[in-house]
Amino acid sequence: MNGKAVLAFSGGLDTSVVIKYLQEKHGLDVVTVTVDVGQGDDLEKISRKAKKLGVVRHYNIDAKKEFADNFVLPAIKANALYQKKYCLATALARPLIAQKIVEISKKENAQALAHGCTGKGNDQVRFDVTMRSGSGLPIIAPIRDLNLTRDVEIKFAKEHGIPIETAAKRFSIDQNLWGRAIEGGELEDAFEEPPDDAFIWVRTRNLPDRPQYVTIKFIQGVPIEADGKPMKPVDLIAHLNKKAGASGVGIIDHIEDRVVGIKSREVYETPAASCLIEAHTDLEKMVLTKHELRFKAMVDSEWAWLAYSGLWQDPLRTDLDMFINASQKRVSGTVKLKMFKGSLRVVGRKSEYSLYSHDLATYGAGSTFDQTLAKGFVELWGLQSTEANKLLRKR
Ligand code: ARG
Repeated sequence: MNGKAVLAFSGGLDTSVVIKYLQEKHGLDVVTVTVDVGQGDDLEKISRKAKKLGVVRHYNIDAKKEFADNFVLPAIKANALYQKKYCLATALARPLIAQKIVEISKKENAQALAHGCTGKGNDQVRFDVTMRSGSGLPIIAPIRDLNLTRDVEIKFAKEHGIPIETAAKRFSIDQNLWGRAIEGGELEDAFEEPPDDAFIWVRTRNLPDRPQYVTIKFIQGVPIEADGKPMKPVDLIAHLNKKAGASGVGIIDHIEDRVVGIKSREVYETPAASCLIEAHTDLEKMVLTKHELRFKAMVDSEWAWLAYSGLWQDPLRTDLDMFINASQKRVSGTVKLKMFKGSLRVVGRKSEYSLYSHDLATYGAGSTFDQTLAKGFVELWGLQSTEANKLLRKR
């Protein structure tokens, strides 16, 4: 043997094929690592499968809390939605998984790192960039580097006694506590509505005839309570996934620009993310000044782009986090959401830092806003615009 490779192992076909490739084509011992970010898989089963495929050691790492605290909470503070829709569930988990692979590679004194990503997706970028940022070891990615297709993989799997569970899976799924991504199969026809049975978190039929309400309390941008109960982030997210999903809330269907240039049709189930980002965005509008909001929207969109495109490790991301954290000092308060047959709407918000003033805003008696000041303000505000138009009229 030529040493050890540490492989990010999901238990699926791709990463199972990679184990055999590393062993046979590279003559490497394989150490597998499965990182639990709330994907809900049977970890014992995955561990048994790895051992059956002859790995020298297998690690299961529970990283749910770390994922929630260090990746999901910053995403909530950043209202992070790629292309205004995608909550980055997969994108946020990849740097954490890659970090764990690097950690284990040091502990195991390994000679290589490995993953099962294809060359068509974003995950290869996220894995490679984080691995390269934390380690000088070579990265072996056989599915990409040998340009393997699924048919070749299945043939290879059969030849090498790799169990193929569901021969013809309808969709390619990636899930964790922040969301469930559904790709491929019949969804590749971008005009075709996703079938009901693509969804397992969000109910699409027999929805309750009464609206459901949920209140979320934030302290400095962090959700700490749902429906009046204090909850840890992992539990709060699980609570919202269940409750909002039962009201049909949280399906996203859009065309997404991948890093490698491909446009893809992406379908997601993200009930908790939909609620939390909607609520957090709304609360910010109550407590931040319009100047803070305009600037933060630009920072938020850059943050989402970095996280999506695999540049989590770029120093710019930590710099943006510093701004975002500073901006959250007054983002404390409670937001009330209403959910009904798939719709989601903020119907109330309150905060001790509210800049909303009833006395200033009211159209009724007792307003403290002096309208007479507005005349001069408006004249100066529009000065250049009206001057420019005056000139145009003269010509
Ligand atoms: N398009 C999303 C992303 O790049 C989700 C990818 C999910 N992967 C999958 N195998 N279904 O983050």
